[in-house]
Amino acid sequence: MEATHCRVVVLISGTGSNLQALIDASVHSNFKISAVISNNPDAKGLDKAARDNIETVVVNHRDFDEREEFDLALRKLIDSYDPDLVILAGFMRILGSSFVKHFLGRIVNIHPSLLPKYPGINTHQRALDAGDKEHGVSVHFVTEELDGGPVIAQDRVPVLSDDTADDLAARVLDKEHLLYPKVVSWYAAGRLRLENNAALLDDEALPPGGVQVHA
Ligand code: GRF
Repeated sequence: MEATHCRVVVLISGTGSNLQALIDASVHSNFKISAVISNNPDAKGLDKAARDNIETVVVNHRDFDEREEFDLALRKLIDSYDPDLVILAGFMRILGSSFVKHFLGRIVNIHPSLLPKYPGINTHQRALDAGDKEHGVSVHFVTEELDGGPVIAQDRVPVLSDDTADDLAARVLDKEHLLYPKVVSWYAAGRLRLENNAALLDDEALPPGGVQVHA
């Protein structure tokens, strides 16, 4: 893969602050965002992409009777951009197994917890309820198991005694914005791959929590 020509497609559903971090990083990095796709026509992230003259497309899941039909339409649309990497950035639809298989090894997700802790939603409240002293973010390869693919990298934040879930979310989000562009640049440089359900960086299999980044 040419380092300067890694084409990525970003899938969003909401605010798009991670998308914005990727847009900002891409200016000086080794990847280029070909398109931003949202299942939600009202996603604020669409405006962010449009402001930066990035092509945006909505594939509204409500327009499809079956989940498989939505997945297929999305897959065909993504394929039309021929991306090297598909980036889920706050994409809130669960993708079916044939979709995931099609993109296996070239699709990543960011999740606001220290996986394998707290897959799914409400991660910040769950960390508070559990009395965790630290919390964080994980970037992982997407596999058929929800939020269960091999972790590529994590960064951590402390949990403070008076934190609300929103406080914690904001602290984690700051780390997300640093971590995601970093991982994408590793992929774009050809340093990262998925092999036998393990994440490899520079040909070395990563440990279960991936690379521990301290940004
Ligand atoms: C982030 O917390 C991300 O980890 C999770 O959804 C949120 C998306 O936020 N998957 P944004 O749309 O990037 O601002």
